[in-house]
Amino acid sequence: MSAVHICEVGPRDGLQNARHLMPTAAKKAWIRALADAGLKEIEVGSFVPPKLIPAMADTAEIVAFARTIPGLKVVALAPNLKGFQRALEAGAHKVTFPVSASRQHSESNVRMTPEQMVEEVRKCAAVPHPGVEIEGAVSTAFGCTMQGVVPEDDVVRIAAALAEFCDGVALADTVGYANPAQVRRVFRRVRERIGGKLEGAHFHNTRGLGLANALAAYEEGVRSFDSSLGGLGGCPFAPGASGNVITEDLVFMFESMGVATGIDLAKLFAARALMTQAIPDEPVYGHMALAGLPKGFRAAA
Ligand code: COA
Ligand code: ZN
Repeated sequence: MSAVHICEVGPRDGLQNARHLMPTAAKKAWIRALADAGLKEIEVGSFVPPKLIPAMADTAEIVAFARTIPGLKVVALAPNLKGFQRALEAGAHKVTFPVSASRQHSESNVRMTPEQMVEEVRKCAAVPHPGVEIEGAVSTAFGCTMQGVVPEDDVVRIAAALAEFCDGVALADTVGYANPAQVRRVFRRVRERIGGKLEGAHFHNTRGLGLANALAAYEEGVRSFDSSLGGLGGCPFAPGASGNVITEDLVFMFESMGVATGIDLAKLFAARALMTQAIPDEPVYGHMALAGLPKGFRAAA
């Protein structure tokens, strides 16, 4: 079965929503441990105003550090041109932009309408950025805690606009509203429209369907997934948003199906221990950490 690529987003999606700041030195140790476990791509932070999200104030230093880890693709989120310029200066290998399909979430999150945000990303893509990938992430693509239903036509239209100038497009279930049938339908519709530009799936486990949605996306041909260690995560500007699909459980699901992830579960648990020591008051999730590996478990070859 064909392998999958997992991007760990805990240092960004997780820490932006955590109750306590993780010290910079602990972030570095955690990111190194994640890379040691076999993660080849990590979203290490975001270039947003530090006043807005203090946990992301050290992102430039974290990007510079992460770049020293051989073979690691260093991703950062940017919400606008200023953030993109900061990401380029810091040396991010890939920059991801959140473009909400929900009007209300867009205005709450980036103070722009979806159309204005598409234009902001277009402006960024026009700035020379040799060797740096740009991803357009369609957030609230499966529903929104403020707006409720997000029309699929809006998701397809925004994905198509982003595909004109982004290297890749991802669909994100920012608030954990998606179900597997919807995931199959929306990914299929977007793929029909933009083909191979559709890459990533970003799911939250808020209603317990994170793994089911990931499997549905896999069956729809998706091979690139975001997840977070211990299921940290959530958008501070989307009421009710909570943790991402859990990296440990996602790796276990795929490996036990014979789908290689390149990630070593024992080393992933070591990275989890570092993370929980650094932010001990943060709730963490995950069945694998509780139950352990089944007897006779064999990772995918
Ligand atoms: N990095 C650092 N500073 C920034 C910045 C960035 N990316 N973008 C704007 N600023 C600064 C401006 O220079 C200005 O500073 P000043 O007050 O000293 O002049 C101030 O922030 C306000 O700038 P403005 O352009 O008016 O931004 P805004 O207040 O309308 O906020 C965003 C817009 C997009 C910057 C903000 O809503 C944001 O960062 N959203 C992202 C939130 C997020 O990370 N959500 C979770 C991930 S999906
Ligand atoms: Zn998210």
